[in-house]
Amino acid sequence: MSLVSEIDFGTPASKATTTVSLTIDGFAVTVPEGTSIMRAAMQTGIKVPKLCAYDMVDAFGSCRLCLVEIAGRPGTPASCTTPVAEGMVVTTQNQRLAKLRRNVMELYISDHPLDCLTCAANGDCELQDMAGAVGLREVRYGYDGANHLKSEKDQSNPYFTFDPAKCIVCSRCVRACEEVQGTFALTIDGRGFASHVAAGMDEDFLASECVSCGACVQACPTATLIEKSVIEIGQPEHSVVTTCAYCGVGCSFKAEMRGEQVVRMVPYKDGKANHGHSCVKGRFAWGYTNHQDRILKPMLRERITDPWREVSWEEAIGRVAAEFRRIQTQHGKGAVGGITSSRCTNEETFLVQKLVRAVFGNNNVDTCARVCHSPTGYGLSKTFGTSAGTQDFDSVDDADVVMVIGANPTDAHPVFASRMKKRLRQGAKLIVVDPRRTDLVRSAHIEAAYHLPLRPGTNVAMLNALAHVVVTERLVAEDFVRERCDTQAFADWAGFIARPENSPEAAAQFTGVPAEDIRAAARHYAGAGNAAIYYGLGVTEHSQGTTAVMAMANLAMATGNIGRRGVGINPLRGQNNVQGSCDMGSFPHELPGYRHISDANVRALFETDWGVRLEPEPGLRIPNMLDAAVDGSFRGIYIQGEDILQSDPDTHHVAAGLAAMECVVVQDLFLNETANYAHVFLPGSTFLEKDGTFINAERRIGRVRKVMQPRAGMADWEITLAIAKAMGLEMHYDHPSEIMDEIARLTPTFAGVSYEKLEQVGSLQWPCNDKAPDGTPVMHVGSFVRGKGNFLITEFVPTDEKIGPRFPLLLTTGRILSQYNVGAQTRRTGNVVWHEEDRLEIHPHDAEQRGVRDGDWVRLASRAGETSLRARITDRVAPGVVYTTFHHPNTQANVVTTDYSDWATNCPEYKVTAVQVTPSNGPTAWQVGYREQARRSRIVLPAAE
Ligand code: SF4
Ligand code: SF4
Ligand code: SF4
Ligand code: FES
Repeated sequence: MSLVSEIDFGTPASKATTTVSLTIDGFAVTVPEGTSIMRAAMQTGIKVPKLCAYDMVDAFGSCRLCLVEIAGRPGTPASCTTPVAEGMVVTTQNQRLAKLRRNVMELYISDHPLDCLTCAANGDCELQDMAGAVGLREVRYGYDGANHLKSEKDQSNPYFTFDPAKCIVCSRCVRACEEVQGTFALTIDGRGFASHVAAGMDEDFLASECVSCGACVQACPTATLIEKSVIEIGQPEHSVVTTCAYCGVGCSFKAEMRGEQVVRMVPYKDGKANHGHSCVKGRFAWGYTNHQDRILKPMLRERITDPWREVSWEEAIGRVAAEFRRIQTQHGKGAVGGITSSRCTNEETFLVQKLVRAVFGNNNVDTCARVCHSPTGYGLSKTFGTSAGTQDFDSVDDADVVMVIGANPTDAHPVFASRMKKRLRQGAKLIVVDPRRTDLVRSAHIEAAYHLPLRPGTNVAMLNALAHVVVTERLVAEDFVRERCDTQAFADWAGFIARPENSPEAAAQFTGVPAEDIRAAARHYAGAGNAAIYYGLGVTEHSQGTTAVMAMANLAMATGNIGRRGVGINPLRGQNNVQGSCDMGSFPHELPGYRHISDANVRALFETDWGVRLEPEPGLRIPNMLDAAVDGSFRGIYIQGEDILQSDPDTHHVAAGLAAMECVVVQDLFLNETANYAHVFLPGSTFLEKDGTFINAERRIGRVRKVMQPRAGMADWEITLAIAKAMGLEMHYDHPSEIMDEIARLTPTFAGVSYEKLEQVGSLQWPCNDKAPDGTPVMHVGSFVRGKGNFLITEFVPTDEKIGPRFPLLLTTGRILSQYNVGAQTRRTGNVVWHEEDRLEIHPHDAEQRGVRDGDWVRLASRAGETSLRARITDRVAPGVVYTTFHHPNTQANVVTTDYSDWATNCPEYKVTAVQVTPSNGPTAWQVGYREQARRSRIVLPAAE
């Protein structure tokens, strides 16, 4: 095994379709117009010395190392900033150029600490390489003049250091922060000899606006910016390409290793979702893999009040099988079920639903997508015919107007946010529909054309009003509707949407957004050449989540914004594999590929392959399983990689359901909150410890590759296999690739997918089959998957969750960049320096009314429960709205969320809860008790020798 090395071509690729032919060092070269001479040379295999050029940012031309000669032109232009021209004759190497380059290098080296032998970058330093490449043998100026060698090192960032003594002021870091990340945290301050890289207002990195994405570290050609892990462990010696296990962007990384130790994660330039960029989580927050809290032995206990007892895998698996069979014998086949994980691989998820259907003999399988994007699946399948987003991420490069609804990509989908911001800086216009003034509304060099700060729970009123303007102001794309859509459905919908109750004036009363702003935003969206909608859980996690998804689909069809690049309806999926867990048949009514369990032909396909008979009736959803547990008819559950106690709504109800069960089996990395109610704990494996695939928000199937052995001895898929075997069904797979072969055999949209194909092409977007052997970046081109696009009536029905005198404020929730969901992983990494606790954002007006000051403890109460946390006073939220994150178990925002849910899918209404906020003295009684209970339930007795 060796390090996967990617060529740095020096400057970005040109997108031009016309080509130019030239000669470089006697070789004939043809490249796209606009390509730099440097890139043209590199593509031909001719290395031009360089320091300030880097192919992820535009050329800058400051180091003067890449000089070339061009026949017929005077001087020695920089090859990184000079574009190719037809017939050009270029020389990159001769005596004159070599001398000029050596002179440049001499100046650099005369102000550089010559500690190469002990430098952490030794062997991976471009300055060192270039000194060799230009044949530097002496430094005539000596090393005694004015220099920067005593500059102080900045170690404030938990993951990387900044040593100005080694800086060559090439500005690659500054440009990476601007162009790739879009944060603009760095500048070159001062002039001439005094010029230096400055973070923020010339402060340390941690205090600056740096978001620790690491783009600057990756760009730095020296050891100035370098990962602390490289300093501690040393240079990596081999690497494996894999996929990030945090969010639905699905960034591709090179896991750079020394033996079985990860040295660093480097975003893969060939990764089609991220093109070499990452956020702080994927690049740096992988230390949880080796955290001391990892549970590495299976554990059992008779009652949930008993201490845990470590046991062998055989005993644990045997107990699970025996208990589930006993429960089924005593209480019926349907008394047990399973929950699949959107954090696990497709192969693992497929096996859990197969276990439930083929071994348990029922369809009681559900997934956490129930609580996030299930309305997306339902809404888009009814309108377009497919339960997935329509575009690839690259498509945003062609958008003229971007509408972001109920999503905060800067924090939740950071790498896509950087991409989107780049497009916005190029001139695309932005509409933000969000109760909160998110970062996108105004950030460095970005300003939304319209921010519609609607009241939580009024998305459908807003979307209907936008559509009303389109219909009544004759902005409909008539040709598109006539040719591509069901015209009768359109006529019915247009009649409905044109009614006065759907006008912006009517919507203004519900949404609180002035009618003229809604009208202007609608004209903007409808009038764009290409308009794309991106949305998140702020759309789906409502009682009308599905209706809102349908309303967005209606809007896109009415304006013709479907079926080509730059447009579409794009759900920003939360979990790394939430798309895959849905695709793999995790819902109680659907087999893999979204085929209804009642379809006898589909069932027959699986029955023949699996050699069992399948139940035709849909099984129980998560909330129904919990209800049935409280009622006594549901007694056992297998939960793979989900912490439903923290992540599902109405914590008290979840706890009551779990406490009522006789056998709760939790398979996870850590003793999570749900494990407090478990009888069996099976230690899970991280994404670094197994093979498989994830599917990101753009339907992209990417490989997860094992870089170390499972620390507990078994990968998650092997555990599920062992349970199935112990319960009597022999499923045999030697490798997850064989599970994917089965998925492909049984699922038409995956028919062309195999590990072999993934090795060849890197990643694939489904559908991938005979019709689309290389996958499908953009869906519904030419025609919709369902044939004609279907307009659906989307009547606005206000939620039953109403504010009143007892609960006068509306609570909405979201994520921040450094933490991930319930924080099980990120809280066990250096990321805690950015977010030690969940805080409640409250508008100054509401805070003043309640006598609350910034940082005060407040009691947050709803009709479902209460919690306490500290207040942050900010006008990011409108008066009447409060906001918090849900990353910390001792806050548990879901204690206050209610059991209201989406009418079609049961997706909980997380985003709207009527609450009251009052001053408090500190944590509530349950929060104090939580610590003690957590401590007690984690007492582990070692296995008997
Ligand atoms: S880590 Fe990212 S945000 Fe921070 S300075 Fe570097 S590029 Fe900018
Ligand atoms: S920190 Fe690195 S990338 Fe930035 S200017 Fe200095 S040497 Fe160049
Ligand atoms: S954007 Fe998402 S997938 Fe990419 S590195 Fe960050 S958490 Fe991982
Ligand atoms: S690499 Fe071209 S001027 Fe620095």
